[in-house]
Amino acid sequence: MAVEEDKKSSRNRTITLTEEEKEKYSKLLHVMEGPAALEEIENKTTNQDLFEVLDWLPRNCVDLLFLDPPYNLDKEFNRTVFKQRSTEAYLKWLETWFPKLLPTLKPNASVYFCGEWRSSTAIHLLLEKYLKVRNRITWEREKGRGALTNWKNCSEDIWFCTVGDEYTFNADAVKLKRRVIAPYRTESGRPKDWLETSEGNFRLTHPSNLWTDLTVPFWSMPENTDHPTQKPEKLLAKLILASTNPGDLVLDPFLGSGTTSVVAKKLGRRYIGIELDAYYCCLAEKRLALAEEDSSIQGYQDGVFWERNTLSMQRASQRGRIRRLKGCQDGSGQSSSPAQTEKSGRTDSRHHQNGGTGTELYRYSHTSSCSKGCPASGRGVDFRTPRPDLPCRGFGHRGSPKGR
Ligand SMILES: C[S@@+](CC[C@H](N)C(=O)[O-])C[C@H]1O[C@@H](n2cnc3c(N)ncnc32)[C@H](O)[C@@H]1O
Repeated sequence: MAVEEDKKSSRNRTITLTEEEKEKYSKLLHVMEGPAALEEIENKTTNQDLFEVLDWLPRNCVDLLFLDPPYNLDKEFNRTVFKQRSTEAYLKWLETWFPKLLPTLKPNASVYFCGEWRSSTAIHLLLEKYLKVRNRITWEREKGRGALTNWKNCSEDIWFCTVGDEYTFNADAVKLKRRVIAPYRTESGRPKDWLETSEGNFRLTHPSNLWTDLTVPFWSMPENTDHPTQKPEKLLAKLILASTNPGDLVLDPFLGSGTTSVVAKKLGRRYIGIELDAYYCCLAEKRLALAEEDSSIQGYQDGVFWERNTLSMQRASQRGRIRRLKGCQDGSGQSSSPAQTEKSGRTDSRHHQNGGTGTELYRYSHTSSCSKGCPASGRGVDFRTPRPDLPCRGFGHRGSPKGR
C-alpha cells in the first residue's frame, strides 16, 4: 500500500506553490486604481474583485470573452463561498456584472459562457437579451459522483454568442481526430474520407456541439492545480482557436487558476485575466511562467484535437513526426509548437460599479498583514490562516477536491 502511495506521489504533477513562489508571483499581480488603458492590463493577471474594476476596463478591444463564473451551486473557492439560489436570483446576480462587460467587446467579438443545468436557464435568458446566441456546447465531464436517487451529473454547457453577424469562426482549426471504426475504401482501394497512418486509421471530423474528448484535469496531468473547478486547457484551446486569430485579445474576468490566459499565451493570443483570489492568481502566474518553456496542450497536437485516452497514439505520432522532420531538409528535428502548427496549417474563415456589494460572495478570510489593501502587487500578499470574522478579497489557501 505504502509503495503504491509512493508511486502515486512520484507521478503527481499537480502545480503547487512554495512560500518563495507565492512571494515571487504575488509581485507580478496587477491592481487597477482607476480607468485602465489596454497596455496597463494586457498580458497580466489582475488580482481584484471584478465588481471593483468593471467600470475601469478599456472599451472596444476584446475579441473573445470567456466567462466561467461561480455556477448556481454552493461552492468554496479557497476563501470565498458562493451560495446556491433560485434561478431568478442567479439571473439577477448575472445582471449585476454581465452588461458592464459588453462595452469591452469589439463589434465582431465572440462570447462563451459556462454553466451547468442549474445555471443554464438563467444564462440563456441573460444572453438572449444582450447578444446573438448561436449554440450551446455540451461537454461530458467523465467523472462525477454517482447518486442513488438521481442521474449522475456529468455534463456542462458552454453557450456560444456573438455581438453581431460578422465574426471569426475557424472550423478547420478545431477538427477532431477520431479512430475509424468502419474503414471503407473506394473501388480503387483508397481510404474513403480517412487517413491511413503508421499509428492507425483516423478521420478528421468537423467539431460538433457535443464534446466527449475532454478530461477534467487530475493529479497526473501537468496542467493540474488544486483549483476546485479548473477547466481543461484543451477546452480553452478549442474556443480560442475557433473564435480568434493569432494576436487577438481574450478576456477572462473569473480567471481562477489561469487556464484562459495560459492557453491564449500558448496559442499566440493576448490576454487579460481578473481573479479575486491571490492564491489562484499566483497559480496562474506560475502556469504562465511554465508556458514559456512548454507550450504543448494535452490532447492537441499537429494542429488537430485527439480523442480522449489516445495519449500513447499521440506520442507515437509525435515520434513519427520527429523522425520525419529529422529526415527532411533542415534536419533540425524540432517539433512545432501549437501556435506554429496553427499558423502554418489553419485556414481562416472570417465571415464575415456597484462598489463590490453585488458579488454576494461570502468572504470569510483575512490576514493580519492585509490592512485592507489586500492584493496589491508587491504590497505583501499573505497566505496564512483564514479569519472568518473579517471581509477580504481572499488570501490564504484551502485546498478542495475538484468538481462542481
Ligand atoms: C469557476 S472558477 C473559474 C475557473 C477557471 N476557469 C480555471 O480554469 O481555473 C470561478 C472563479 O471566479 C473567481 N471569482 C468569484 N467571484 C469573483 C469576483 N467578484 N471577481 C473576480 N473573481 C471572482 C473565484 O475565485 C473562482 O476562482
